[in-house]
Amino acid sequence: MSSPNPPERRPVAAATAGHLDEPSSESPISNLTVVGGNPLNGTMRVGGAKNSALKLMAASLLAEGTYRLCNVPRITDVALMSEVLRSIGCTVHWEASDPVPDLIIEVPSEIEPVAPYELVEKFRASIVVLGPLLARCGEARVALPGGDDFGPRPIDMHMRGLGELGAVFENVHGYIHASAPKLRGTRILLEFPSVGATENILMAAVLAEGTTVIDNAAREPEIADLCEMLNKMGAGIVGAGSATLTITGATEMHSSDHTVIPDRVEAATYLAAVGVTGGEITIRGARHDHMAMLCQKLGEMGMRISPDADGLWVLAPTRLRSVDCPTLPYPGLATDFMPFLVALLATTEGVGIVTENLFAGRFKYVDELRRMGADIRTDTHHAVVRGVDRLSGAPVKAHDIRAGAALVVAGLGAEGSTVVSDAHHVARGYEDLAGKLVALGPDVTVS
Ligand code: UD1
Repeated sequence: MSSPNPPERRPVAAATAGHLDEPSSESPISNLTVVGGNPLNGTMRVGGAKNSALKLMAASLLAEGTYRLCNVPRITDVALMSEVLRSIGCTVHWEASDPVPDLIIEVPSEIEPVAPYELVEKFRASIVVLGPLLARCGEARVALPGGDDFGPRPIDMHMRGLGELGAVFENVHGYIHASAPKLRGTRILLEFPSVGATENILMAAVLAEGTTVIDNAAREPEIADLCEMLNKMGAGIVGAGSATLTITGATEMHSSDHTVIPDRVEAATYLAAVGVTGGEITIRGARHDHMAMLCQKLGEMGMRISPDADGLWVLAPTRLRSVDCPTLPYPGLATDFMPFLVALLATTEGVGIVTENLFAGRFKYVDELRRMGADIRTDTHHAVVRGVDRLSGAPVKAHDIRAGAALVVAGLGAEGSTVVSDAHHVARGYEDLAGKLVALGPDVTVS
């Protein structure tokens, strides 16, 4: 059973509606301090999906007009994507609405198809403006993203797919100069179901002449969400959520409103957190059908998870048993869940083998978990996690969004206090992680 997306919402009454302050694109958070030992109990609501909202924002570049995006998380990465859109010529602001503010994007008739290095180097997801800029303007200049803490993050599949639609590329002073006076639909077979490549090709193909078929497309729920918004804007996409996307090119598109799907990675963070501490929580808004494999794994570990009309009810005993966890493209276990699963397995009964099949370099936080007493051995893309009775709180460092959240999760069950430094990474993807945890019982402070 699945719960529906949050309903489309209208702005609050005119008397209270108005522009809200922009969340900072420079997070003021440096440390998250967790004192372990409190179980999680109560109800929380999951926010909108970061990985969907960022792409929906990029999609707005395809057509002039005003867009109202509902259920957008107020996180640093959204503030950075707003900066990218502004540098292209759009106006972006937040407007009060109930229960969460809406993001309003105004796209003018003339835009500057450039994504500058200063912004792209701060968050590489901005590469998804390449496809829509190319489709709308016939050209784009986007700074080449570098590697990151997951290791190298190439964009060869994005470029090959766009190339097959007719784009040509030049690498000039660290920027990709892409041009395509005319994009033409064709059959594109991706060698791997890359999320970003599927999105970039999709957002170019919607305005290409004729029909494009993307085979071996990524099937993540965030891509289905993007397809839904693109279709509302006038695109002709069939097969959303499947491995074959068929896109009939439109000559023109128009603006639209859209509500972002709930964030399955945020929901997974709270599932892992209650797995570590034990307790009983309800995660409002979480969609079981978007995280069925994770729920199955957690069930094998001893948790009880039951979907209801508006979320998930979760019961966790004080100690779970270990299972093996391979990451795979959707509907497999998401690589973004893996750091929480490793944190969880660090204290479960037995040994669990985690195999990371997407990002080879994604084990850096394991050294931090070892500082907390975790017994983990890594070898290339495997981690062998032997559960210990209890972790021991320690100063640790967040290397990326999910790794930082995983250290917080580990700290919730540890003895004493864990100080997660470089916590600005966490603010990139979580709206008020500390506040939402505190409301469920744990002792977490921000400094
Ligand atoms: C997106 C998500 C990220 C998630 C990942 C996999 C966003 C903002 N980020 O990242 O949180 O962990 O999907 O679910 O939505 N690859 C290539 N060449 C390419 C493109 C990708 O070799 O041109 C490789 C990558 O290095 C990686 C694999 O393909 O090994 C998957 O990457 P991809 O699905 O593209 O991830 P992202 O879109 O970058």
